[in-house]
Amino acid sequence: MPQEVWTAVDDFVTSLSPVDSVLEAIVTETERAGLPAISVSPAQGQLLAVLVRSIGAESILEIGTLGGYSAVCLARALPNDGRMVTLDVDAMHATVARRNIAAAGLTDRVTVVVGPALDTLSSVHSDHPGGFDLIFIDADKEAYPEYWSWSLTLSHPGTLIIADNVVREGAVADADSHDPRVQGVRRLLELAAAEPRVSTGVVQTVGAKGYDGFSVSVLLPGAQP
Ligand code: SAH
Ligand code: DHB
Ligand code: MG
Repeated sequence: MPQEVWTAVDDFVTSLSPVDSVLEAIVTETERAGLPAISVSPAQGQLLAVLVRSIGAESILEIGTLGGYSAVCLARALPNDGRMVTLDVDAMHATVARRNIAAAGLTDRVTVVVGPALDTLSSVHSDHPGGFDLIFIDADKEAYPEYWSWSLTLSHPGTLIIADNVVREGAVADADSHDPRVQGVRRLLELAAAEPRVSTGVVQTVGAKGYDGFSVSVLLPGAQP
């Protein structure tokens, strides 16, 4: 099946809902600022919102903000007093994201933290000792194993941990890959599978953004972070 079919299906699914001018503006502004077109697709953003609502999440951590597209999808699904923290290494990305988050009316709900996530996660932990209800891992794939460990630290029973881009056009199945991004996502999936405190599903996806996939893990009842 070719890419055109995957895109046509995403376009069809998206066309069923009313035009989302907030998200369309974010796509336009993110592109205008010269950021890469690697945000989650509208259909994926909808699924993220469903996951937030399905667990009644009140707190969200995102690793990898870019222009704030997925952050807005996630934060809009929170209750009014819900809170989200999103981390990005790139100050320019954070500036664009803060502007997009403000345009979406979500400034009070979302804090953008600038710096390498592995440097900022410990202060995030101090500020949020109880952890988060949902964690979305979507930054540099090389560091996914470390983000996985941090996510466990920042979880409580019932927390959903979602990792984007874990299939990489099927490259994840290549144990001999020399691509550190492939090794990073492979290691995350290995750690998740070996972790008795979580239950994990991995889903391959096709769509407007090509062939990839994501994992969803839930921290089990009684698990100590
Ligand atoms: N979640 C976004 C897309 C994120 S793209 C969305 O779907 O809308 C990946 C982002 O991770 C980029 O903005 C990049 O700057 C950021 N990133 C890369 N390395 C990082 C690091 N070490 N710490 C924090 N963010 C990082
Ligand atoms: C890339 C990163 C992403 O988070 C994504 O969803 C797609 C592509 C990338 O770095 O190429
Ligand atoms: Mg991604």
